[in-house]
Amino acid sequence: MKDILTAPWMVEMIRTATNMYDHGWDERNGGNISLLLDEAEVKDYLNTDTVLRVLPTGFEAPALEGRYFLVTGTGKYFKNVQYAPEVNLGLVRLAEQGTKAELLWGYEDGGKFTSEFPAHMMSHVARLAVNPENRVVMHCHPANLLAMTFVHDLDERAFTRTLWQMCTECIVVFPDGVNVLPWMLCGTNEIGEATAKKMETARLVVWAQHGIYGAGKDLDETFGLIETAEKAAQIYMKIAHLPRVNTITDEQMHLLEARFGVKGRDGYLD
Ligand code: 13P
Ligand code: ZN
Repeated sequence: MKDILTAPWMVEMIRTATNMYDHGWDERNGGNISLLLDEAEVKDYLNTDTVLRVLPTGFEAPALEGRYFLVTGTGKYFKNVQYAPEVNLGLVRLAEQGTKAELLWGYEDGGKFTSEFPAHMMSHVARLAVNPENRVVMHCHPANLLAMTFVHDLDERAFTRTLWQMCTECIVVFPDGVNVLPWMLCGTNEIGEATAKKMETARLVVWAQHGIYGAGKDLDETFGLIETAEKAAQIYMKIAHLPRVNTITDEQMHLLEARFGVKGRDGYLD
């Protein structure tokens, strides 16, 4: 067996958690990441017949039975992932229609997967149905996106249009826009189901007064997606209280669509 800490996906997970912490998106235990792995990617690093513990999930996700996930632990600090990955991360395989998670590695202090496991797993199901290449669901608390949910209309079209107008490349990076959930109690199946429903039409879902979810085909892409939306929100928070003299017009957005071969969400541009 090779050392699991040298697996490319483990190295990338550790680097990503560290980078998210360094961006200020994950204070204390804030945020969580789940990375879908193929059996072929894990079998050189771990005996998949050895189940360390069986953890009930509290929901059903039949589409994910037998799938492997590397997931941040509940209550764990992203700051510490790089120093003790085997405590702060866990590798699980879903079993029995997704009602059980078999722990194959990690959570060495007796811990378990993030309290947002329902939102993560349900979002994986939703995104895989749209794009079979999807591998990552990422949640964090970036300050400007969060701030924006206190002062901006939460209507999804309005919220998306404002973000698109803040940086030229926003519409190129997230043409499907940003969906928004009103404040809901976190860590529940209900917010998981609501998030997954929103994930059917966009790769970014804002949780008002809480944070954001992103989904993508790898850690880099998903990080970049949230990074771009957060940059746009940062610009908005810098200018929201000032008179707007210039903007990026819908006509210019259409030029971007043509130049970059993307199509903004239906009905979001005039
Ligand atoms: P966990 O520590 O359970 O991952 O929760 C952090 C969080 O951001 C909840 O929304
Ligand atoms: Zn959170």
